[in-house]
Amino acid sequence: MYNLLKGKRGIITGALDQNSIAWKVAEKAHEEGAEFVLTNAPIAMRMGEINALAEKTGSKIIPADATSIEDLTNLYTQSQEILGGKIDFVLHSIGMSVNIRKKIPYTESNYDYFMKGIDVSALSFHKMLAVAKKLDAISEGGSVVALTYMAAQRTYPFYTDMADIKAMLESIARSFGYHYGLEKKVRINTVSQSPTKTTAGTGVKGFGDFFDFADSVAPLGNADAESCADYCITLFSDLTRMVTMQNLFHDGGYSSTGVSDDVMKRLGIEPES
Ligand code: NAI
Repeated sequence: MYNLLKGKRGIITGALDQNSIAWKVAEKAHEEGAEFVLTNAPIAMRMGEINALAEKTGSKIIPADATSIEDLTNLYTQSQEILGGKIDFVLHSIGMSVNIRKKIPYTESNYDYFMKGIDVSALSFHKMLAVAKKLDAISEGGSVVALTYMAAQRTYPFYTDMADIKAMLESIARSFGYHYGLEKKVRINTVSQSPTKTTAGTGVKGFGDFFDFADSVAPLGNADAESCADYCITLFSDLTRMVTMQNLFHDGGYSSTGVSDDVMKRLGIEPES
């Protein structure tokens, strides 16, 4: 441990169960000396698993639907009271597409579901930032990270409407990052993560096959949730204090690889000597 977050106060969204990326971020943030509040949608709380994480990390839980300005206002207000000051870091780890859940093909997307996906998975990020800015709840130099996927840049047919939604999420990081950076030096970045075996990840049709494909393309293999958490911790720390408005790939080299020897072999193509 490096005490990278010693004395820092945070808010961590999205820890549903032990597989959640946010769960690992909470464990690592605790190890690195941070104090934080855990939050999730009230409906996710009913599963109750988050209580174990709260106990382990000495954290309080504040339920909040990330699409509700009222809930978010309460979240920041209460978090500052509980933690005793402004917030230094925020993790947005929220994603949900009804079109994906219902296995609806992209070209036949249901627009009510599409709007719901946008609200939960992208606009919620804008709302979290706007409420924080209005309340002046994030300290100068604070760091906000949201999780995204490379389907925002390249087409992955199975990712359907979430591809467009993630593109919006990444754009919000840039746009809000400018304004919040100028005013309060608050940093806003997205981490573009490898396919990861979580509830949200495995809900995507064909995820298992694609997980293996991505693993065989990336020279380092797929990045797991734990290494993603490590990366997020560096972004919350002061060591990355000049990094903002970036979409940062955390994918074992996948996004820069055209084709790998392994994939060629699987296709039965022998490299020429
Ligand atoms: P997860 O299913 O463990 O986490 C998703 C979380 O979103 C859950 O805790 C859920 O309760 C929360 N959520 C849904 N609706 C909400 C609402 N209205 N208000 C507040 N919270 C709400 O899955 P995972 O994979 O840890 O997802 C975290 C983030 O990582 C998501 O943004 C996802 O798109 C992203 N990501 C995941 C990848 C994967 O392959 N698992 C790859 C790249 C990015």
